[in-house]
Amino acid sequence: MSQEVSVDDRMNKLVSLCKRRGFVFQSSEIYGGLKSCYDYGPLGVELKRNVTDNWWRSMVHEREDVVGLDASIIMHPDVWKASGHLDGFSDPLVECMDCHVRFRADKAPRMEPGTEVTFRDAKKKKVTAPVLDRGYVCSDCGSPRLSEERAFNLMFSTHLGPVASEENTVYLRPETAQAMFVNFLNVQQSYRLKIPFGIAQVGKSFRNEITVRHFIFRSCEFEQMEMEFFVEPGSDDEWFEYWKKARLQWYVDLGIDPSNLRLRPHEKDELAHYAKGCSDVEYRFPWGWDELEGIANRTDYDLRKHQEASGKKLEIIDPNREDPNTGKRPFRYLPYVIEPAAGATRAVLAFLLDAYDEEPPSETRKDGRVVLRLHPRVAPIKAAVLPLIKKDENLTARARAIVKEFWGHGINSFYDEKDSIGRRYARQDEAGTPFCLTVDGQTLEEETVTIRYRDDMRQERIEVSQAVDIVRKKVMES
Ligand code: GAP
Repeated sequence: MSQEVSVDDRMNKLVSLCKRRGFVFQSSEIYGGLKSCYDYGPLGVELKRNVTDNWWRSMVHEREDVVGLDASIIMHPDVWKASGHLDGFSDPLVECMDCHVRFRADKAPRMEPGTEVTFRDAKKKKVTAPVLDRGYVCSDCGSPRLSEERAFNLMFSTHLGPVASEENTVYLRPETAQAMFVNFLNVQQSYRLKIPFGIAQVGKSFRNEITVRHFIFRSCEFEQMEMEFFVEPGSDDEWFEYWKKARLQWYVDLGIDPSNLRLRPHEKDELAHYAKGCSDVEYRFPWGWDELEGIANRTDYDLRKHQEASGKKLEIIDPNREDPNTGKRPFRYLPYVIEPAAGATRAVLAFLLDAYDEEPPSETRKDGRVVLRLHPRVAPIKAAVLPLIKKDENLTARARAIVKEFWGHGINSFYDEKDSIGRRYARQDEAGTPFCLTVDGQTLEEETVTIRYRDDMRQERIEVSQAVDIVRKKVMES
């Protein structure tokens, strides 16, 4: 039985495991680190790739009606003008007049206007002051003495070419979605696609977030997995319901505990101005329920805006149907869009948190253990091959030959001969490796190995000739 890991400790323990085992490092750590920027180490890069590969498989490869795109990160600045990002993609920024921290007004601790609060000023003296009409206090020191709010645009800008002028200003994309809208006709015509169809993309996005916290949950450089599904107006409500269910199920199928997941419909005042409906897939993070993915009905807003701004028609033309309003052929219309927009790096955090477990010491294991119960499909390493004794060259040679066989079948596997077998199992448990194969004297005599299952530590003997198939089936069919 696992012991309950205290909620406060969970993030700290996970962050420490991520560094210890090579999942995630602070960027530029030897220079003191760069706030909100992270590097994915040998295990982290595999985990992140497995998350995005599984998303791609379920969204693109296993469907007839969705195709992929890999667009440039820097796009024409007019794209961001038309999409509304240049004028409106901002957060309300406030500065605390006491501790001078800058924070997001909409995320600050709420308080009844007029309430007298006591806090420490810049000189650490206790002071009391009333909460302003805006009804919030500093998220750091609790002071109600705050600057005016100002809109802070989250897009990073740079210059294209050698001249740093206003005309050469370009932006790092704050979402992958816009590339799917501006390429809508390119993709539809080149691939002869019929509505409904979707365009999917995985890639980096950049936002100069005012408040970054919770490790990789909110960072300035992150990865998204977005799909724009173009449908005929009128069928949008049905597709919206479909994608909400499908996206929630994806996390469950990859092993996330369903009791830690929920769909939360947006309140009316939360909805983006262009959205007809939006629901978030939320995960129960250690700090509470928070967003993993948004599924939105964006109507024809984006295509209409790009059509107007570019002067290029982005309509679907159906020669076989009459326009329901005019009765004339062909039927021309701008499709509506249902958008499941997920964060890949945020999903990595959810998979790690959900998998993290501590087992207390037991009769068979006096030290207890830390184990990442990752689903085999997202686990960075699928199988570790371990010779029982390092000094026996026959064993190490046989074990190396076995791991090569796994590599030959495209199964990411790891060879380890350092330290006692117990310590090697412990390392693989912390890496989330679902299967360990131990090569011993019996292997040389009978061509069998011991397979050890990470979750219950059960061990059984299997034929070496069956090992690849057994692991592959367990990874693919689980
Ligand atoms: N195209 C719509 C769009 O970008 P969003 O809700 O702003 O919608 C989609 O972003 C997802 O991207 C979020 O649900 C979240 O998982 C991820 N995301 C957004 N900002 C992020 C950040 N600063 N750091 C990490 N992930 C982020």
